[in-house]
Amino acid sequence: MKAAVVYSSKTGFTKKYAEWIAEDLSLEAHDLQTSDHLKEVLSGVDTLIFGGGLYAIGINGLKKLLDDNQTGSISNIFVFCTGLSLRSEEVQREIFENNLKDVEKINVRLYYYRGGFDYQKLNLMDRLLMRILKLKIEWKKNKGPLSSDEKGMLAVFHRKVDFTDRKLIRELVEDVRSLQPKRDGFSDNM
Ligand SMILES: Cc1cc2nc3c(=O)[nH]c(=O)nc-3n(C[C@H](O)[C@H](O)[C@H](O)COP(=O)(O)O)c2cc1C
Repeated sequence: MKAAVVYSSKTGFTKKYAEWIAEDLSLEAHDLQTSDHLKEVLSGVDTLIFGGGLYAIGINGLKKLLDDNQTGSISNIFVFCTGLSLRSEEVQREIFENNLKDVEKINVRLYYYRGGFDYQKLNLMDRLLMRILKLKIEWKKNKGPLSSDEKGMLAVFHRKVDFTDRKLIRELVEDVRSLQPKRDGFSDNM
């Protein structure tokens, strides 16, 4: 087995998980956005562990990686993503449907971890999107009850929060070690 860890992280939360995973598997974590030797990193790799932050339910960087056709020799992809939503099977199913449903010919398994939020590190576009989202939630608040994710979003807006938890990577690390991706494509350890 030849494996590689690649991540795409805007504010550092996914990077943290990628580095923990790489450390446990005695590999290096490579940044998709800045690595100028990604082709070499992926050359001959049959197992890829890829991580990206969730932005409007999309996994940052995943499309770029798949579209650039850099996954030629890869037969297993372990995708992890980080977001603010609480962990649940429903959230994981929604992420799978939005990002991985159409990936064929490769064994894909998805893991969702809670990341965090750091407004100060966001680029201008993401700050704008967050402000729009905040306005929408505030408007909704006047009309009726909010979901726990919406309440959570309002609560973290003005301060840095970090929900990262190293324990969460155990399942992925064990799965990579034993290389037995499950048939239904997503983790059942919620
Ligand atoms: C514009 C924007 C959209 C986001 N959309 C989602 C989302 O759909 N679901 C979610 O759980 N978290 C969402 N988040 C929170 C990020 O996924 C979370 O901060 C993540 O841990 C960031 O990872 P990164 O720093 O590695 O990029 C969003 C954050 C921003 C700024």
